[in-house]
This record gives sequence, structure tokens and C-alpha cells, in this order.
Amino acid sequence: MRHLLEVDDLSTTELGDILDLGGAATVPRSLDGLGMALLFEKPSARTRNSMEMAVVQLGGHPLTIRPDEVGLDTRETVEDVTRTLCCYHAAIGARVFEHSKLERMTAVSSVPIVNMLSDEAHPLQALADLLTIANEFGGVAGLAGRTVAYIGDANNVARSLSLGAGMLGMSVRVATPVGFGFSEADVARIIATGTDFVATNDPFEAVAGASVVYTDVWTSMGQEDESAKRRELFAGFTVTDELMDAAAPDAIFMHCLPAHRGEEVSDSVLEGSRSRVWPQAENRMHAARGALVWLMEQR
Ligand code: CP
Ligand code: NVA
Repeated sequence: MRHLLEVDDLSTTELGDILDLGGAATVPRSLDGLGMALLFEKPSARTRNSMEMAVVQLGGHPLTIRPDEVGLDTRETVEDVTRTLCCYHAAIGARVFEHSKLERMTAVSSVPIVNMLSDEAHPLQALADLLTIANEFGGVAGLAGRTVAYIGDANNVARSLSLGAGMLGMSVRVATPVGFGFSEADVARIIATGTDFVATNDPFEAVAGASVVYTDVWTSMGQEDESAKRRELFAGFTVTDELMDAAAPDAIFMHCLPAHRGEEVSDSVLEGSRSRVWPQAENRMHAARGALVWLMEQR
């Protein structure tokens, strides 16, 4: 049995297999008659809907659980909730604040645990991102040698994207304000994929020659108290038409969403011809389906 807490839990071959399964025209009914519990400590539009529909497409029954319904570590321990859900479900997805909660779940679970976003990682997003880039640039093999530039906060989305892109042979450039870059441990983990990684505080340096320009919110869920301060510190890190013009001529714009127009991205870039945010959002469902088929094959 395998779990999916971060993209580099997978080998490069396994990552390619999941992307292939996500893009496949027909899929097995891997969850026929089975349940999948989807546990959310934070809000979600894309993750909840894409996961529920992926489970349905595989013949299963998704059961979404809101934060107040089980009370992770308040009504009952994470371990006892996990062991309970294992009695009824073939897999468990969880969106949590602390990544350590997912690790505690894997320690006691008899079914695969899927990270649906933690403060550290968002692997399902990265799978959809890589599928979107592959669809744009001639398949998974077309990613090698291209550059992805991430502009903004070196957060959960940036980390999973950097790891996945690096595993598939892309160069990774990350531009953040001073103090918002990756930790040394994160950089070491990203470099371990074999990627040519550059961290900078200059968005224009990051996007030079990039095929993909990516951003995410400046204030992630759980950081709302810092939002005013972050708006000040991230000034100059908005993805604008001028910044897109400094990327490769065929560059696309990507954003995991939800977007804050006028903060991390201008309205004209988000709505413009280079934006791929809606195919990217749709690919959340296809990538999730690929991941679930693969996880069920590993049992
Ligand atoms: N991109 C993403 O994970 O969106 P939600 O927070 O709406 O699930
Ligand atoms: N970094 C964002 C991603 C939302 C999908 C957050 O954690 O809130």
C-alpha cells in the first residue's frame, strides 16, 4: 500500500504513470462499490469537487466530511478518526493545517492517505499542473529542458510544483520577496530531483526564457492575520502583462486558484490569451482520477 503526501513520494516513472492514467480516455472502475472519505479542515472549491467527481468516475462513493463533523484532535484524536474511517472506506483524502497530521494518519491507516493540501504540500495540484503543461508542450516528454518560473510566496503549491517539475526534467526558477523563499531543506529536496534550480528576489530574472509563469495567493489559508503586511511586502511581485512579455514567446500563465486579481496577478493576465487557469482547474479532476487508479493498483 502507498500514500501520497508529496510528489516526491513517487518515483519519476510512477509520476509519469499517474499522468498517463489521468490523460487516458478510459479508466478502470477502481473504486467500484467502495467509499473514499474526504476530510477538510479548510475551505475548498476545486479539490472537493474534483476529488468527488474522480471517485464517482471510478465507480466509488465520495463522502465529504467538514471540519466540525469529526473535530480532528478536538472531539477525537487524528489517529482514532483515521482508524474509524478505515472501517468503511478504501481510501482517505485529507486537507489539513499541519502536515504532521497527515503523517500521523499514515502511521495508523490501513488504506491509502492522500494529501488534499497541507501547509507544506499540495501534490494533487502539482499533478494537475504537470498534466496541463504536458498537454501544452507535446506530452510529458516535452517538459524536459523547459523552464517553470514561480513568482510569489514559496508555499505549499510552489514546493509541490517545484518538486514535480524538477522530477520531469524542467528547470525551476522561484522569485520571492526577501524572507519568503524556500528553506535550505526545501532547496536541497528540490535539487535532489536533479533540476537546475534558481532562487531570486527578481521576478524578471525568474521569467527570462520561461515556458510557464506560475503564481499563487500571497496569503495562504491560515495566514489571514498577515494579509495586510503581506500585501505590502509582496508589492512588485504581481504577474502583469509586462512580466509575461519578458518570458518565452510561447509562455503560458498558470494559477492554482483561488485568485486575487490585482494582487498576485493582474486581471488582464488571468483573463488573457496566455492564461490556462481553466484547463488547469479541469485537470484537477483528471489528475486526481489518475492518482486514485494508481493508488488502488498499489494495494
Ligand atoms: N487549487 C485548489 O486547491 O483550490 P481549492 O482550495 O478551491 O480546493
Ligand atoms: N497556498 C494556498 C493554496 C490554495 C489552493 C493555500 O494554502 O491557501
